[in-house]
Amino acid sequence: MRKMRVAVLISGRGSNMEALVKAAQAPDYPAEIVLVLANKEDATGLEIARALGVRAEAVASKPYGRDREAHERAVDARLREAGVELVCLAGYMRLLTPYLVRRWAGRMLNIHPSLLPAFPGLDTHQRAIEAGVGEHGCTVHLVTEGMDEGPVLGQARVPVLPGDTEDALAARVLAQEHRLYPAMLAEQARKILLSEG
Ligand code: GRF
Repeated sequence: MRKMRVAVLISGRGSNMEALVKAAQAPDYPAEIVLVLANKEDATGLEIARALGVRAEAVASKPYGRDREAHERAVDARLREAGVELVCLAGYMRLLTPYLVRRWAGRMLNIHPSLLPAFPGLDTHQRAIEAGVGEHGCTVHLVTEGMDEGPVLGQARVPVLPGDTEDALAARVLAQEHRLYPAMLAEQARKILLSEG
């Protein structure tokens, strides 16, 4: 089976991107990471990607100011030039406009650090602790126009332990993110490849 060409979009440290790149190095993995794009030149994940031998570039969002769609057009152009077929958002801290979401409908995945629909948005770990839930986790979903709302592809659960700090809970969830995202990307890539016949 051929490998699906995947880009990972990041804004910061890129640990999920790293997990995806490493998983995709397995010979039988149905996808290859052909491009890592950041919206900031200084995203530390760019260096990590390059060290792993992956093309990594920034399309800085700052020069575009409030024109989010213009920035997305530049991002989309890079994705198309690189022959990308599927996009993984991994800590990409940008609200997307309908432009990019529609361009990649059914072909854009995101990982969110909560058991959606619980705790969409930011500060999910602190909010989970404050809410007193017994269970927390992460979700991989398809990206649609509503933030953190698209169809769920898979979730991983962790317990919230007595006395948990935000950092301790975040670390427990992150370990699961690094397992869940590569598994869900593989599943989605296989599904698309099979549908191509
Ligand atoms: C992860 O917790 C991810 O779920 C969230 O942002 C964080 C990014 O971490 N969307 P990293 O850049 O992948 O290390």
